[in-house]
Amino acid sequence: MTGDSDFEMLIETGQTDRPRLPLSGRRIALGVTGSIAAYKAADLCSKLRQAGAEVEAIMTPAATQFITPLTFQSLTGHDVVVDMFTAHEAEAHVEVARRADALVIAPATADCIANLANGQTPDMVTLTALATEAPVVVAPAMDNQMWEHIATRTNVATLQGRGVVFAGPGEGRLASGRYGAGRLAEPADIVAALRQALGKRGGDFTGRRVVVSAGPTQEPVDPVRFVGNRSTGKMGLAIAEAARDRGAEVTLVAGPVSLPEQPGITRIDVTTVAEMLSALETATSTSDAIVMAAAPADFRPASAAGQKIKKEGGNQALEIQLVKNPDIIGTLPGGGVRVGFAAETHDLERYAVEKLAAKRLDMIVANDVTAAGSGFGTETNQVTIFHADGDVEAFPLMSKYEVGHAILDRVLSRIQTHQ
Ligand code: PMT
Repeated sequence: MTGDSDFEMLIETGQTDRPRLPLSGRRIALGVTGSIAAYKAADLCSKLRQAGAEVEAIMTPAATQFITPLTFQSLTGHDVVVDMFTAHEAEAHVEVARRADALVIAPATADCIANLANGQTPDMVTLTALATEAPVVVAPAMDNQMWEHIATRTNVATLQGRGVVFAGPGEGRLASGRYGAGRLAEPADIVAALRQALGKRGGDFTGRRVVVSAGPTQEPVDPVRFVGNRSTGKMGLAIAEAARDRGAEVTLVAGPVSLPEQPGITRIDVTTVAEMLSALETATSTSDAIVMAAAPADFRPASAAGQKIKKEGGNQALEIQLVKNPDIIGTLPGGGVRVGFAAETHDLERYAVEKLAAKRLDMIVANDVTAAGSGFGTETNQVTIFHADGDVEAFPLMSKYEVGHAILDRVLSRIQTHQ
């Protein structure tokens, strides 16, 4: 990409030294206790591995009645510690506790929670919890009456007061056949809670507030139709997750998307540009950075019909007058470090540079939305970042999560140089 603009310093391979996966380089101790939900811990273990973690499993003897240590040995590639006296290394509880970046106990029974609250150590899981200084994430699973019992409520409050993070439990049908709170949280939600807990422990965005926008907007034509676009919100959500994983307090303002809510990310759902602007005005009043990854509609119908527009009556054409929407990021007065996106199909550099100046941005992340693997709905994106000072960085095709980290690396260095 060359031209006669001021943006000649193209670095063809702007790189990020962030890990590819959210838990790359992390060593997680997974404690499994004796609940019927113990079989779901195998899926959790697999998801931790897929997220890049090195996992060591520890089981209570009761847990081995529900699922065998061999399952976790196969999934982790490590011996599973059940009994302190037959463990493969002396002082196994201390060693596992010392090595772990975090301890996840899933499922955690009422008995386990009571022992944790009281500092009792009848098994390797509670022993490891007492011996570790790493963050502890507890995912309870029990009958709803046990979960709601005052003894369990008191124990949970005690542990939360000590900084233990609880993932779930969810509500629904329980093993007893009852309905209520007590189901083990979904493995993906436990992993997300763990990522948040790790971020809060020394992440480089700790104490920072990051606002991200994601997804399309829908501008009503009539009660059943709208003007919109193909944005899925994946790019914005990936940035929000990356910021959450680095310890930031994150607000995600999302247009209509079908992406699940994420632990540790405050989500505000909106439909139209007017609603997105209003939500962002509030959210950015105290933020350190705003990353505008949403694809708000540039135009909206001048007026929305009160009833469904009918095709009967012989009409062969329908005229809808569109009026210009406000430019959200251009309208917002501040927000801290201001990052926009440019979704282009041609003349990427020219349009990106124009938008950078017109919208008073510190940087703009340009993506060619017609390129393979880039733009709308994909898991990956290939971006070029144009900075207000004239620097340009072109990146290879990366996961949207990695693109998020690359943006945040640059946001952080701007925050640090300007504070
Ligand atoms: O959501 P995905 O499916 O993952 O797709 C990701 C994406 C392609 C939507 C994303 O990578 C992207 O490019 N987002 C910006 C889309 C866009 O609206 O681009 P634009 O060039 O039209 O707008 C430039 C900037 O102004 C953007 O930061 C946009 O959010 C902002 N804008 C646009 C219109 C408007 N009324 N107000 C705005 O603030």
